[in-house]
Amino acid sequence: MNSEIIDLQAENLKQSYDELSKHKFATDLLLGLSAQPKHIPSKYFYDDAGSRLFQQIMNLPEYYLTNCEMQVLETHAADIVSKLGSGPVNIVELGAGDGSKTKVILKSFFEKNIPITYYPLDISNDALKQLISAFGKEFEQLKIQGIQSDYEEGVRWISKHNSQKNLILFLGSNIGNMLLKDAKTFLRKLWKSLNHEDEVLIGFDLKKDISLLLPAYNDSQGITRDFNLNLLTHVNDRLGANFNTDNFRHYGTYDAERGAMVSYLISLKSQDVHIANLNKTFSFLPFEPIQVEFSYKFLIEEIEEISQQTGFRIEAEWYDEKGWYVDVLLSVQKNKK
Ligand code: AVI
Repeated sequence: MNSEIIDLQAENLKQSYDELSKHKFATDLLLGLSAQPKHIPSKYFYDDAGSRLFQQIMNLPEYYLTNCEMQVLETHAADIVSKLGSGPVNIVELGAGDGSKTKVILKSFFEKNIPITYYPLDISNDALKQLISAFGKEFEQLKIQGIQSDYEEGVRWISKHNSQKNLILFLGSNIGNMLLKDAKTFLRKLWKSLNHEDEVLIGFDLKKDISLLLPAYNDSQGITRDFNLNLLTHVNDRLGANFNTDNFRHYGTYDAERGAMVSYLISLKSQDVHIANLNKTFSFLPFEPIQVEFSYKFLIEEIEEISQQTGFRIEAEWYDEKGWYVDVLLSVQKNKK
C-alpha cells in the first residue's frame, strides 16, 4: 500500500497545521463567546477524544443515522458504482472518520476492477492514522493518501488535484451540521472546485417524528453528553482555558422552525472562564446557553432545491428501508462554451 498523510496547511503556507488551526480556533472562540447568544462552531468537537466519542455515538442504539446509511450503502453500493462509468476515479471523502461505510463502496469498485485512489480527509490525525492502517491491512491494492484538514481547506485541495474523474463522498449527514446558507455556500465552492460530470455522494438525514430525533441526541448512556462537554475540554487543552465541565450541562432539542436538532451547553451557575490564549475572561450567567451544534433534517424537496441552486443534477436517490435517510448522487453541471 502506498500511503501518507498530507498536512495541507503546512504545505500551502509553510506553517504548521497546529499553529494555524490554533489561531483559527482562538478567533472562532473569541467571536463565538463574545456574541449574544454565545456559540462555538461544532467542528471543534473533533479533537482525538471527540472523534473517539463520535465513533461510540455511531454505535448507539438511539443514533439511527449510521445504521440507516449503512443499509443504504450495503443495498445499493453496486448501483452507485455502476453510475460512475468504468474509468479510474479519485475518491475524496470529506470527514472520513473510521471509514466503515466507505469500505462498502470501495469493495464495489474492486469487484468491478475500477482503478481508484482514495483520499480520506479528516481533521483528526489519530482518526486518519487508524483509518490508513486499517484500510492498508484490508485492501492491499488500494492507493491511499490521507489529508489532515477541515472541509474548506479540503475543497481548495480538490480544486488543484482534479485531473481525473472525482467522486466526493460526504456521508453521515455531515452537511446537516452547517447552517442552511453555509451548506449552500459550501456546495457551490465544492462545485467550483470540480469538473463537469464529477460526482458527489451526499448523505442527508430526513425530517421525521421528533420522538425519534430527541433520543438520538440525548442517549441513555450519556455518550452524547460527554461528546458535547468534551468540546470544553478541547478548548481547555488547546487554548489554555479553565472551563469546569461539571458546571455545564448538555441540552439537545428540536427547533421545528429551523428543522434542526440544536445542542447547547448550559451554564449551571454564574461563573467566569479565562482563556489564556486570548488573555480574556468570559462571564456566564446562570442557565446561559452556549449553542454548540445544529443537525439539520431535510425533506427530499429541500435537498432537490439545494442541489439545483448550487449547480448539481440529481442522478439518483437511495433510501433506507424505513425512509429515514437518503444518499443522493449529484453530478456537477457546468455549461461549456
Ligand atoms: C457528525 N454529525 C453528522 C453528527 C450529527 O448527527 O449531527 C454529530 C453528532 N452530534 C451529536 N450526535 C452526533
